[in-house]
Amino acid sequence: MHDTPGDESGPGPEAPPGHMTLEDAFALALRSHRSGNLPMAERIYRAILTAVPDHVDSLHFLGLLLHQGGASSLGVELIRRAVALRPDYVDALSNLGNVLCAMGRPAEAAEVWRRVVALAPHPQAYNNLGVLLKGEGRCEEAAAALRRAIDLDPGRGDAHFNLGNVLMLLGRADEARSEYRRAVELDPGFIGAQEALARTLVQSGRCEEAREVFEMLLAASPGNPIAHHVLAALTGRDVPDRASDEYVVQAFDSFAETFEHVLTTLGYRAPEVLSAAAAAVLEDRAGSLDVLDAGCGTGLCGPLLRPLARRLTGVDLSAEMLARAQARGLYDELVRAELTGYLGDHAGGFDLIVAADTLIYFGDLAPVLSAAAGALRGDGVLAFNLEDGGEAIGASGFRLQPNGRYEHGEEAVRHRLDEAGFGQVTIRRDALRREWDRMLTGLFVLARRT
Ligand SMILES: C[S@@+](CC[C@H](N)C(=O)[O-])C[C@H]1O[C@@H](n2cnc3c(N)ncnc32)[C@H](O)[C@@H]1O
Repeated sequence: MHDTPGDESGPGPEAPPGHMTLEDAFALALRSHRSGNLPMAERIYRAILTAVPDHVDSLHFLGLLLHQGGASSLGVELIRRAVALRPDYVDALSNLGNVLCAMGRPAEAAEVWRRVVALAPHPQAYNNLGVLLKGEGRCEEAAAALRRAIDLDPGRGDAHFNLGNVLMLLGRADEARSEYRRAVELDPGFIGAQEALARTLVQSGRCEEAREVFEMLLAASPGNPIAHHVLAALTGRDVPDRASDEYVVQAFDSFAETFEHVLTTLGYRAPEVLSAAAAAVLEDRAGSLDVLDAGCGTGLCGPLLRPLARRLTGVDLSAEMLARAQARGLYDELVRAELTGYLGDHAGGFDLIVAADTLIYFGDLAPVLSAAAGALRGDGVLAFNLEDGGEAIGASGFRLQPNGRYEHGEEAVRHRLDEAGFGQVTIRRDALRREWDRMLTGLFVLARRT
């Protein structure tokens, strides 16, 4: 979000350090800064400040440079000095907000950016404010700030993209799609906007257009895991047995911030249904069980499983999802690992494994079910849900959908459970979550090892 150095007015008329004029010295420092020669830039900024301690531009840019080098607190101090000396120095204020935001101090950053927009119509500050307000769930205000940024500078692809994200949260997918499209038009190399555009095209059933965008994306970014995965679904070619680790990490790291908000609005029920089903058969052992929340995500199952558990472990591939689960303070252990491999390494480690909306990222269930059977002890219980593919599912027992998730057929699921060594199996259909205008049906499975 940083403004690049060099967008400021030139130095004042004070005395120059050494034999150069102050103006030449500052220009050389900025050139060095811009070209990445930070040691040289730092030396010159410091020399200027030794000669002229209140040189506001040097305070500003040395502050930025220190932040770039990791000394952010010191950097903030210097930029604050610059704006104390020149209170209407909007670029320094804008950068101060950027640094505070990067330091994880969003409230202070917002305050600074509000000062900026009160002083001048500053599109960058409106854009940044919009992103912060979205993070606080203040979506209408965020949209207003982002629209203001776009009015002031219609060529900003990032503001269109950010506005698209806010509109998605507000459930205005058609408008969001237009914003993403505009972002891509303005900046054809903007991978995040291409991904978002393609996703919204898939969601609205415009699969042919989505395919074109994903193909464009793959041409620009050949290893892109989202494009690979969804193109496999759209074309039926090279369909993987499960979503790749790279796909899961990329999809969920970027979804983590809004995951719970979105799932709440979709009437998501898997944690409640599965935990209640597990509690019903394990009630007499509540509080004494070793429980694994498999694909724990942000920890929505945590509060429901905690009463059953002596020890509650969560495993997930996405660091961003895990960070939110950690913040709940409910898990004894959280592990970043791929689920099948983790289960294989923990033979006989658990009494109960719950996988809420996790195995929908697995097509062929055989490896993960066999690993789960091995990770359960005695007559341990496995509870999980899938999306019901109904009669349309072919011989493989699963189908990869353009939304990136798999759906399964009940018959094949029963076979896989049997092969993996699960005896008593109950599968019931129930509402899982909303997908646009329809309620999806889930297959809710409770299986005991035999
Ligand atoms: C839809 S979320 C569900 C999260 C949580 N169980 C809930 O109900 O809110 C699916 C989670 O499974 C994780 N996941 C998917 N495939 C995985 C794999 N192979 N190994 C580990 N985690 C995986 C994702 O990172 C994501 O956090």
